[in-house]
Amino acid sequence: MTKLTGGDLIALKQRRQKITMITAYDAPSARFADAAGIDAILVGDSAAMTVFGYDQTKTITLEEMLLLARAARRGTTRALLVADMPFESVQVSGAETVANAMRFVNDAGVDAVKIEGAGMMAHFIAAVVEAEIPVVGHIGLTPQSADRLGGYKPQGRTAESAAQLVDDAGTLQRVGCIAIVLEAMPPPVAAAITRSLTIPTIGIGAGAECDGQVLVWHDVLGLSAKVPKFVKQYADLGSAIVKALHAYIADVQSGRFPDHTHTYAMSEEERTRFEKALHDLSATKP
Ligand code: KIV
Repeated sequence: MTKLTGGDLIALKQRRQKITMITAYDAPSARFADAAGIDAILVGDSAAMTVFGYDQTKTITLEEMLLLARAARRGTTRALLVADMPFESVQVSGAETVANAMRFVNDAGVDAVKIEGAGMMAHFIAAVVEAEIPVVGHIGLTPQSADRLGGYKPQGRTAESAAQLVDDAGTLQRVGCIAIVLEAMPPPVAAAITRSLTIPTIGIGAGAECDGQVLVWHDVLGLSAKVPKFVKQYADLGSAIVKALHAYIADVQSGRFPDHTHTYAMSEEERTRFEKALHDLSATKP
C-alpha cells in the first residue's frame, strides 16, 4: 500500500478533497484508523490525558511520546504518521530541538513532527525543517501554552488577534511547514487562513472551511469523560466496554466462563497416565 506524504496532503488541498486526521497512540488504534482510510494519524501529546491520566499536555515526556509513536508506527501502513513534539523537547536550543525531532523520525519512524506555536517558536521550527524533517504547525489554542493564553480558550476572537493568527500561519508556511493545525478559533478566521495558504489547514474547533479535520480518538469513540464543544462523538465504546465487562464478571462469578470451548483437551489415555503419575508422586512423599 502506498504511504501518504506531505506532498499528498497538499495535492488533496489542490483538488479540494478534505483531509482526515485522527489521533492514535498505539498499534491497534493506528491499524483501525489506517484500515478505515484515514489520511493522517497524529500521535498527539493529548496522550498526556487520554493515555497517561495527567491533567495537562505539558507534563508528558519525550520518552513517553517516543514509546507511543513507535507503537503507532507498527500499526500504520498507509496514513501519514505525525507525532507531537512534547513541551520539554522543543523549548530547548535549536540543536537540541533538531536532535529530539530526529529521534521521532529515525528511532520511532514517524513521517513528520508537529510543533505548537509560531512567533518565538518559528526559529525552532525552521531549524527542524532545515534538517529535512517535515513539520506540521499548530496555532490557535495551543495547549502547551494554555497557562500563557489564560486557559483552554478559543483564540482569534478579536480583529487584532485574528489578524495575528493569519500572520502566524503565513510565517509557518514560509519556514516550510507541510500543513498547519488550526485549533479553536472562529470559522471566518480559519477560512481566511486556509485561503491565504498553499499548504493545507487541518481544523479542530475551527469550522468547516479548513482543508481537513482532526479529532482525538477517545473523544470520537466515546472513551472520554468530558469532551469540548467542537467534538462530534461517533460511537459509545465506553458504555460498550462497561457492558462487556459486566457480562465477563457475571460469567466468571457464576461459573459460566470458561466452558469446554475455551480449554485444551487431553486424551483419556493421557489423563489416566497423569492420574497414575499423581498417585505415584504422593506415594513417594514421606
Ligand atoms: O495532541 C493532540 O491531540 C492535538 C490535536 C488536538 C490536534 O494536538
